[in-house]
Amino acid sequence: MRKVMSGAGSVPTHLASLAKSLSTTSLRELFAVDPDRAKRLSRTLTLGDCELLVDFSKQAINARALEALVEAAREKGVFELLVKMIAGAPINETEHRAVTHVAMRSSSDATAPSALRAEADRSRREIRETVAAMPAAITHVVNLGIGGSDLGPALLCDSLVSMRTPIREVRFASNVDPVDLDRAIAGLDARSTVFVVCSKSFGTSETLANARRAAQWLASGRVTDPRQHIIAVTSQPDRVAASGLPVGRVLTMPESIGGRYSVSSAVSLSVALSFGVEVFEEIRDGMRLVDEHFVSAAPLDNVPLLHGLVWWWNSAVLGHATVAVVPYSTSLAMLPSYLQQLIMESNGKAVDRKGSALPVSSPVVWGGAGTNAQHAFFQMLHQGTQTVPCEFVGHSASLGTSDADHDTLVANMIAQSQALAFGVTQEEVGGDATLRAHRATPGNRPSTTLLFSRLTPRAIGALIATFEHSTFVQGAMFGLNSFDQWGVELGKQLAAKVAAGINGTPDSKADSSTSSLIAQHRRWRNPR
Ligand code: F6P
Repeated sequence: MRKVMSGAGSVPTHLASLAKSLSTTSLRELFAVDPDRAKRLSRTLTLGDCELLVDFSKQAINARALEALVEAAREKGVFELLVKMIAGAPINETEHRAVTHVAMRSSSDATAPSALRAEADRSRREIRETVAAMPAAITHVVNLGIGGSDLGPALLCDSLVSMRTPIREVRFASNVDPVDLDRAIAGLDARSTVFVVCSKSFGTSETLANARRAAQWLASGRVTDPRQHIIAVTSQPDRVAASGLPVGRVLTMPESIGGRYSVSSAVSLSVALSFGVEVFEEIRDGMRLVDEHFVSAAPLDNVPLLHGLVWWWNSAVLGHATVAVVPYSTSLAMLPSYLQQLIMESNGKAVDRKGSALPVSSPVVWGGAGTNAQHAFFQMLHQGTQTVPCEFVGHSASLGTSDADHDTLVANMIAQSQALAFGVTQEEVGGDATLRAHRATPGNRPSTTLLFSRLTPRAIGALIATFEHSTFVQGAMFGLNSFDQWGVELGKQLAAKVAAGINGTPDSKADSSTSSLIAQHRRWRNPR
């Protein structure tokens, strides 16, 4: 458990002592004393075409801890911050920006300012028109973008392919590693391919490099007008014009939608082009249902609020440094990567909103799809010396062609949460005395299970919105700004200097390791 400190990132004393008393009680004991524990600590959401059960009961909490966490949220101003965000106040102070991803997908009768709702309608129209105008001869979409301009649409498309038949095949290239684009365009005909260049800033070097190469590929592919094959999505249309790229159509998004929160915006144009506007609207419906629930549900019934508070409890109060996200669904295999950016880029900060040092912020988010993960890193989760809270995500209905095998998949997910929580003692293992120590597993390893009745576009939207709001809650509890990302800037600046060194203009002030790596790379690149 972490030390109690004062300031924005501090843990209220009553929560720290509650954690202390809970830490002397195992999950086995917590379940034994309360036969209704699962019911008491689970919440459900109805999402139109599916339902979601969120089971927090295998976390090291009890009903009193949840109440205390909600109280702490009140003290830390989480609810005020939410009201400000919805009203379009500039809560991203370091960039002097409002945070409008929720407002931009709200319904026409919602409380979001009318200017934001008008902007949302305009953007929706723009997406519809772009999809409607796309000739049937275009059979392939290649999304060029990185970070939030890649991970959200890529997750959606990767999930949707097991639910719907795509209208157009979609591929993604994000890395400046030329292999990425080479693979994305392999076997494609330029005349039937459209590129969606997604870059909120239209200044990201990886995306611009790929867009330039895509334009060259189009030009060498007997395309009469390359502009008919490149669409840009950005908040900086002037930069598109200045880039010299042959872009025929530009879709805009407001600066107030952060890259990692942009999945419900025009950044997902590739999703609409490949699976249709209606499917994209279903995803946004699922998000909106969770938005409305987050804004209006009572705190103790509020799924994203409780979810964020439990994550904060694990990292800030109990001191767990990482969280493993394990979707038991091939269709959600990209979820850990998506959540890494959403959560770590939002909350991986060293200072609070006022610039004072924080004792703790984002956990490391990692993971992989089950059951594969069981045969890779679960050994450490069960018997390693660190406690890693787990986030299990599954769905009861199969998206494949064997219900029986899907049941086996779900059985494994539930069994893993059971094994982690309750373990097995040496006495229970029995047998050889030496082997017993090796075979016993300590248990008491916390997890949350998110079980959907079935995975639909709405369910995916709801899942993403739940994590967006959970991230917001965690950030507000840490007392930090979840909407800037200054930490990634230094690396970008240094990459430009190193690139200059590789091209023959060395930085005389560079450290010896950097200089020698550049020199070695130059020798291997240009052997005499
Ligand atoms: O990695 C930093 C970052 O700015 C992310 O926040 C963003 O999602 C990504 O780069 C891509 O940015 P852009 O959409 O402006 O190209």
